[in-house]
Amino acid sequence: MGVVFMCASFAAAQDQAVENGPVEATFKSIQTQVFQARCVKCHGPGGLESKIPLVKYSDLFAKPLVVAGDSSASLLYRMVSRKDPLRMPPFVTGAALSEETIGAIKSWIDQGAKDN
Ligand code: HEC
Repeated sequence: MGVVFMCASFAAAQDQAVENGPVEATFKSIQTQVFQARCVKCHGPGGLESKIPLVKYSDLFAKPLVVAGDSSASLLYRMVSRKDPLRMPPFVTGAALSEETIGAIKSWIDQGAKDN
């Protein structure tokens, strides 16, 4: 129930069910097709940007959310693949990312999480 409460203030933000087409294992593709389509409505300007931004490459290495070369140690991958108790996107607002998209994120991280 904690998750429901936590996301209550984002209830107005509608989630899209799908990403914008096939996602490639590059930062550019993940940024435009996953983050912009599925995450920035909550994690962008006017939302969580000041706390947990998902806008530019360096945002992923501040906490860090990504450990280059090791998807299983990367919070980003753990959350979108539902391996972490805190799942993203949150259940209340929409569907999980597709298997293909999750696979592309995993490959990108395991290939060194380059700014490509
Ligand atoms: C409906 C709103 C919403 C959407 C859409 C959303 N998030 Fe979140 N996200 C949240 C909230 C709320 C938190 C918790 C913020 C806090 O700790 O106060 C959070 C936290 C996080 C965290 C930080 C977890 C931690 O332990 O520090 C990450 C990473 C994250 N989200 C990734 C994503 C990714 C990737 C997507 C897109 C695939 C996404 N989120 C989509 C609302 C959202």
